[in-house]
Amino acid sequence: MPLFCRASSYLLLLALAFITSSCQTDTTAIPIPRGEKIFRVKCSSCHILPHPKYYSLDTILEQIEHHKLVKKIKLTAEEEEELILYLQKTFSQK
Ligand code: HEC
Repeated sequence: MPLFCRASSYLLLLALAFITSSCQTDTTAIPIPRGEKIFRVKCSSCHILPHPKYYSLDTILEQIEHHKLVKKIKLTAEEEEELILYLQKTFSQK
């Protein structure tokens, strides 16, 4: 077999390996919603999610502002948006 053929079949294998490995990462686990992940990382070190039955969404949103000032919690605008979307979803499922 000419050398360039061997090289190209090697490249093909490499491409296949790359394609299958990039497929696997999508299917190995059920993805956690981004907002929930942000809650786990930024909030759950201190407490679990307050129960929707006892807190309104407004209270939670006020608390996030309060937390940012008083507890020096750092959220980027994007993280805060995702977190609020997640909380809105959770708190509309009472
Ligand atoms: C540094 C620890 C800490 C972190 C991190 C934290 N909290 Fe809190 N949180 C508290 C404490 C302590 C309280 C009890 C009330 C207080 O001190 O304001 C509380 C209370 C709350 C309450 C209930 C307020 C009430 O009126 O009883 C909500 C809602 C809340 N946190 C949301 C969040 C959210 C959302 C995040 C993530 C962005 C978060 N917390 C991250 C410490 C924390």
